[in-house]
Amino acid sequence: MPDSALFQPLTVGATTFRNRIWVAPMCQYSCEDRDGVPTDWHLVHLGGMARGGAGLVVAEATAVVPEGRISPWDTGIWNDEQRDAWARIVAFQHAQGTAAGIQLAHAGRKASTYRSQSGRGAVPHSDGGWTPLGPSTLAFRGLADPQPMSHEHIRSTVEAFAAAARRSVEAGFDVLEVHAAHGYLLHEFLSPASNDRTDEYGGSLDNRARFMLEVIRAVREAAPHTTLFVRLSATDWIEPDGWTLEQTVEVSRWAKEAGADLIDISSGGNLPDARITVGPGYQVPFASAVRDGADVPVAAVGLITDPHQAERIVAGQEADAVMAGREFLRDPHFPLRAAHELGVDVDYWPVQYERGTFADKP
Ligand SMILES: Cc1cc2nc3c(=O)[nH]c(=O)nc-3n(C[C@H](O)[C@H](O)[C@H](O)COP(=O)(O)O)c2cc1C
Repeated sequence: MPDSALFQPLTVGATTFRNRIWVAPMCQYSCEDRDGVPTDWHLVHLGGMARGGAGLVVAEATAVVPEGRISPWDTGIWNDEQRDAWARIVAFQHAQGTAAGIQLAHAGRKASTYRSQSGRGAVPHSDGGWTPLGPSTLAFRGLADPQPMSHEHIRSTVEAFAAAARRSVEAGFDVLEVHAAHGYLLHEFLSPASNDRTDEYGGSLDNRARFMLEVIRAVREAAPHTTLFVRLSATDWIEPDGWTLEQTVEVSRWAKEAGADLIDISSGGNLPDARITVGPGYQVPFASAVRDGADVPVAAVGLITDPHQAERIVAGQEADAVMAGREFLRDPHFPLRAAHELGVDVDYWPVQYERGTFADKP
């Protein structure tokens, strides 16, 4: 069997992953009853990608409180009914040999928006929307004005992340990912472009990172034996006034000290005017900078679509693992195909699909 870095198992925190080709979290906006309970859609969506050979499948941004949903159709993990619905999905994923992750999220000032098929912009109160919370009154252009968070809001949100972590562990998840990217609540606090507070949660980098670090510590304490990732946006793509790679490296070091096992590096999402240079693997250099600068395992994501490209990223130690999003939507069996294209024999083709392997057996 040819050597492949991509298909080498990897141990991070408490979890050994069967390979390093992972599914990035992807919102489905498919809780039709607006109750945050994952449905058969989520079972088939996440289960299909588990069947397809991924080492890890991370479930979408899942709100820790109702007002933390991006849209009313998001998944949640703030009650036991949601936990039990997740448990069924996780059990199926485990039966396929994959690790199961969940992204714990609060959308902050970008909460209460329509999903694409239901409307545009903010959902008004008359249609089941709510006033979003944020670091300050600075709104995301085109969305509702946020209510600045009080110290009590911050404290109860930290507790909600911890409670969500406990329920996630009860549901069987192997990996918890704190969502601190893409202009959602924790990123809004991190970035000087969205946080103009004058208390201990605004101003210096220490202060802007305080809320995120409180969340990481609380989740770590609530789930001491579960692998913990943090997703960060490496840059707002508006320098020098926005969030920068340099600050990301610094904060990644603090996140590791607070208990994070791996940093998942994305970018953008906080400012509508961001000038983003997009191309194959465009965020990989950010992941490498964090890996080297903060001495922490990283996952790279963003236009990683080709098995040889993924192999080069991991073999070149640019990242410890790669995540893909849209390639998995096109082909939930991307890892099985990648193994074939790289000449790697894997023992996790589902037995029911054995006649469909790429080996030309009659
Ligand atoms: C349909 C869809 C939903 C997404 N939802 C989330 C999400 O819930 N949380 C998150 O951090 N990123 C989300 N993303 C971003 C992806 O995780 C990923 O970072 C991005 O798509 C770039 O990777 P790709 O080029 O492989 O698709 C989403 C992307 C897509 C396409």
